[in-house]
Amino acid sequence: MKTSARILCAALLAGALGEAAGQAHQPPKVEADTYVWEHTENPYSGDAEAIAEGQRLYRSTCYICHGDTGARGPNLRKSKLKGQAFMKIVIQGRKGTQMPAWKGKLTESEMWKVYSFIEAPLP
Ligand code: HEC
Repeated sequence: MKTSARILCAALLAGALGEAAGQAHQPPKVEADTYVWEHTENPYSGDAEAIAEGQRLYRSTCYICHGDTGARGPNLRKSKLKGQAFMKIVIQGRKGTQMPAWKGKLTESEMWKVYSFIEAPLP
């Protein structure tokens, strides 16, 4: 490999790593006490269409870390966090861990749909 190509590769790699590290260590974008909720409880509980949409969102956004029964992150079906307590972690992420903040990436409605899927009994 030519030196110039090697430098470019190193720069690209550093950029990618820097981005990943930055995401993991970002402070929460929303503080719980300043966040204005659209819904104080799950508006989609038992709604089959919302649960199906939640499943799709879970697959594309959460599954990579949480898997079906936990992986890098814990099994969310076994979480003791319910309703807004669960949602706060999704919105803000958990500082100092790999759990990212989803505010700005998912809407609150989408997050409640994911929650509905996690809460729904397995088929
Ligand atoms: C980059 C990996 C990653 C992704 C993607 C991710 N999580 Fe997490 N999540 C984690 C890790 C790691 C933890 C454990 C944090 C800790 O050590 O407290 C966690 C913890 C949580 C918790 C707290 C559970 C508890 O009982 O303490 C919730 C809730 C949660 N994640 C929801 C989600 C949802 C919903 C999504 C998808 C929208 C998601 N996570 C995507 C890594 C991830």
